[in-house]
Amino acid sequence: MVKKICVCNGPTCSVTGAESILSNLSELKHNHSGEFAVEICGCLGHCHNAPNVVVDGEIIENVQLGNVENGLLHGQGKKAKKLEDYDADEIIKDDFLNDI
Ligand code: FES
Repeated sequence: MVKKICVCNGPTCSVTGAESILSNLSELKHNHSGEFAVEICGCLGHCHNAPNVVVDGEIIENVQLGNVENGLLHGQGKKAKKLEDYDADEIIKDDFLNDI
């Protein structure tokens, strides 16, 4: 199955390495032909852990430029907490107030 990778190109991810991640993924396509498709998306609301990328619907936070292949293609990246993993106080502290 082809992985769908969406690189956040919002303002914070842009200044923290989105373009380098895109470039790195473009280079990886030579050795991983047909394994993944890349597109660009807007802000994911996880700016405090930028740069962020979505892989098959799951947000991978704080993507390390030296670890794009392992983090995104081999599933070793730091996955964002899912909404159901938070309690209400954490949502207010972690996800919303930090992005304001
Ligand atoms: S700019 Fe990328 S998560 Fe907000």
